[in-house]
Amino acid sequence: MQVTLKILRYNPEKDARPHWESYRLEAEPMDRVLDLLHKVKWEGDGTLAFRRSCGHGICGSCAMMINGRNRLACKTLVKDLGTEVIEVQPIRGLPVEKDLVVDMEPFFKAYRAVKPWLINDEPPPERERLQSPEERERFDEGTKCILCASCTTSCPVFWVNGTYIGPSAVVQAHRFIFDSRDKGAHERFPVLGSTGGVWRCRTAYNCTEACPREIPVTQLIQEVKRAIMFGEF
Ligand code: SF4
Ligand code: F3S
Repeated sequence: MQVTLKILRYNPEKDARPHWESYRLEAEPMDRVLDLLHKVKWEGDGTLAFRRSCGHGICGSCAMMINGRNRLACKTLVKDLGTEVIEVQPIRGLPVEKDLVVDMEPFFKAYRAVKPWLINDEPPPERERLQSPEERERFDEGTKCILCASCTTSCPVFWVNGTYIGPSAVVQAHRFIFDSRDKGAHERFPVLGSTGGVWRCRTAYNCTEACPREIPVTQLIQEVKRAIMFGEF
C-alpha cells in the first residue's frame, strides 16, 4: 500500500518556523511508524532528526505525536492507524531542537526533583529489606514507567503552566512513596505539594490515555494527593 507521511520539520539554523513536509512511501500494514521514518531518513532525506534506540517499546525514546495523539513510533503499526495520510510531529510543551527531537531537560529536571530513588537511612539488615507480595504490588504500576514523556507532554496544564512538574514525575514519586522500604516521602512532599506540584492537576486524563504502558496515571496522581493530605501511604 501507499501512504503519505507528513512530518513537521524544523531546523532552527535555517527555518523561521516549523513547516510540514510530505513523503509518499510504499508501506506494509505491519510496518511501524518508526520503519517509515527510517525509510525517509535512510533512502530520502538524511537530515531528518528523530530519537530512537531499542525499537521495542522499552527505552521510551521515540515518543511523538502521531495523528494527533502521543504514541511510541516503534509500537504504532500502519494498519492500526487506519489512514493513508499519517501526520507526525514532536511531543508538545518542550522546546524543539530539530524536527522530532525535543529538549528533554525540563522533563528530567522535574524527574530529579521528586528524588526517584530509595531513601532509607536506617542501617540495612543482614540480608535484604524484606517486603511482602502485597507490599510490592502497591507500587507495581509505577515500576512500568519508561520515562517516555508521552503523559507529561499531552497534559494541557503542562503546556500552559511553566512550573507544573507533570504527571510522569508524580508517577515516579508514587513508585517510591508507596514502597514499604522507603522513608523519604516527607523529602518529596515539599516539591509535590508546591504550586508546581500535584494540585496543578485538573484530572484531564490525557496522561492516562497517552501512556503506552497503560499505567493509570491519573489514579496514581490522586493517590499522591491523598498521601500528602491524609498521610495515606
Ligand atoms: Fe511514559 Fe507512561 Fe511513564 Fe508517562 S507514565 S513517562 S506515558 S511510561
Ligand atoms: Fe494533566 Fe493528567 Fe492531570 S493530563 S491535568 S496530569 S490527569
